[in-house]
Amino acid sequence: MSTTSTAPSDGERPSAAPALQESLAELIDLSLLGKQAHWNVYGKNFRALHQQLDDVVEFARQSADTVAERLVAIGANADGRASTVAAESGLPALEEGSLPDTTVVTFMVEAYTTTIANMRHRIEALGSTDSVSQDLLIGITAELEKQSWMFQAEMA
Ligand SMILES: [Fe+2]
Repeated sequence: MSTTSTAPSDGERPSAAPALQESLAELIDLSLLGKQAHWNVYGKNFRALHQQLDDVVEFARQSADTVAERLVAIGANADGRASTVAAESGLPALEEGSLPDTTVVTFMVEAYTTTIANMRHRIEALGSTDSVSQDLLIGITAELEKQSWMFQAEMA
């Protein structure tokens, strides 16, 4: 459904909307997956992972808010509804129930690998449409890659 917007639009920047919307869905999904793991993880590394996963959630939520507000700033709308996130996120699903610490680390590495690959694809595409939105995703992806490294370092 189309809605009215008072946001500025120059006729070029709204073409960045699909890349931003897909990013929004993934970042919201990452925040939800992070909390799911935060609650259900167990094992020798429980304490460290429990806290690390809240860092994941905090960054994902902040980034989702930034991306959503960028969508509106370019004259589009942000869609963070649960049904939209479920339909649009490319992240893997997390099994229900208790989660061994090793399973959580493996899952998080897989989730980061997926979203970083998708982000880099979007960054590439935004180079020809909206360099400001591109810059925003570059900054988010740099932090995602840092967080990914931290989970990878726990796989030894
Ligand atoms: Fe908590």
